[in-house]
Amino acid sequence: MGWETDYLSEAREAIVGARSETALEQARVKYLGRRSRLNEALRGAKDISVEERAELNRTKTQLEGVVATAREELRRATIEQALTKEQVDVTLPGLALERGHLHLITQIRREVEDVFVGLGYEIFDGPEVETTYYNFTALNTPEWHPSRSHGDTFYVADDLVLRTHTSPGQVRYMESHEPPVYMISLGRVYRRDTPDPTRYPIFHQVEGLAVDKGITLADLKGTLMYLSRALFGPDRKVRIRTSYFPFTEPSIEFDVSCFRCGQEGCPSCRYSGWLEMGGAGVVDPNVFGYVGYDPEEVSGFAFGLGLERIAMLRHGLPDLRELWENDLRLLRQF
Ligand code: PHE
Repeated sequence: MGWETDYLSEAREAIVGARSETALEQARVKYLGRRSRLNEALRGAKDISVEERAELNRTKTQLEGVVATAREELRRATIEQALTKEQVDVTLPGLALERGHLHLITQIRREVEDVFVGLGYEIFDGPEVETTYYNFTALNTPEWHPSRSHGDTFYVADDLVLRTHTSPGQVRYMESHEPPVYMISLGRVYRRDTPDPTRYPIFHQVEGLAVDKGITLADLKGTLMYLSRALFGPDRKVRIRTSYFPFTEPSIEFDVSCFRCGQEGCPSCRYSGWLEMGGAGVVDPNVFGYVGYDPEEVSGFAFGLGLERIAMLRHGLPDLRELWENDLRLLRQF
């Protein structure tokens, strides 16, 4: 014989070189398993001398020792690797919980409220389902007026509508308060409009009403200017145009200088340099008649504007329908 020395070094090399439990097991089976050359030789032991048999057994014992050491070595390496890889850095900050925030329209609503509360106005809430009396009649809107039609307004019953504006709040407030009045009312309003980039059947308005001795159109303009500067910054200009509403006389619509082009003209303002903000006017004496105010004693102004409009103007939103889609990629930006 005499092959044992070579066998031993070859086996040792294979066993020590094994990089995984599987490879180690393969090496063990090859050199120490039942079919290994070593064991085959031992099985034929009755044909060999005592010395040779002792030599084979020594080789076997040695190899078993090598396997045991290698196995131990592998196990230690595995644990060490796991310790390095899975170690926890307790000084790292924890996972931050994602926090929500107020919707853009709610933010604007609160800003507008802040502006007027600062001017001494009271905030008043009116119902969204409103009688035709408050939504139209007491606002001096004649029976034949197109805004009363079922094509423009959502009717809940013959004399009940989803309010088409926040103006009925004026009447409700004046019914329950004596002048002087400084009131704003904000909330949802509904119109049967087909959605497009600048219109949606539900939107938000802020209504303002001031009634006192000697209130004029100049007070209205000053107030609107103050509001637009608070919302859009000190460089905004305000322009008023004559218009018509049944409950104000005279009536105006007011525009703000375009946020985008600095009045050079751009697609947002349709090259006019101005963006429409809302309607307003001096309260019609007929409205005072409905609430028992004396038009000889007091006068007032009222205005109404859309909060979505403010969002559009201030942030350059190209399509206000997006404000209703709750897509976080948009909402997160504000
Ligand atoms: N209510 C009117 C509208 O919805 C706006 C307005 C309010 C006009 C107050 C005059 C006075 O268009």
